[in-house]
Amino acid sequence: MITFNLNGKPVTLEVDGETPLLWAIRDDLGYKGTKFGCGIGMCGACTVHLDGRAIRSCITPVAAIAGATVVTIEGLDPNGQHPLQKAWVATQTPQCGYCQSGQIMQAATLLKDYPNPTDADIDAVMNGNLCRCMAYARIRKAIKLAAAELRGGAPA
Ligand code: FES
Ligand code: FES
Repeated sequence: MITFNLNGKPVTLEVDGETPLLWAIRDDLGYKGTKFGCGIGMCGACTVHLDGRAIRSCITPVAAIAGATVVTIEGLDPNGQHPLQKAWVATQTPQCGYCQSGQIMQAATLLKDYPNPTDADIDAVMNGNLCRCMAYARIRKAIKLAAAELRGGAPA
């Protein structure tokens, strides 16, 4: 029995502690916004927040998150209006969209560390989030747009 907080609500699971958090989120708890890409921590499609930091849920066993706070793309903003989500729409960043929830969750922690990120900052933090549609230029643009909104200024 493992209890943690998911998107602001306490949840309890009766699963093997070695179960990847990604399976628990999608199959046991029904949040399908977090995606499976590689399953080995190499693509970023499964990125969620664990106690406020981006992690790869495909390689995180549920036993490791007992008592912790997990946020998925569904919980980033109750109305889907996080500055990153608005910037993603404004810049029409997604193509197929498959990688994008992971990209946004990674970007959300990037903005905590870099309120005015440079291209180099973005590339350094986002380089583990792969996009097979090669939307990298628009991802970078969207991150800068969201950062500007959070700062109340213009993109760098
Ligand atoms: S599915 Fe988790 S990093 Fe690729
Ligand atoms: S938008 Fe298709 S994989 Fe990134």
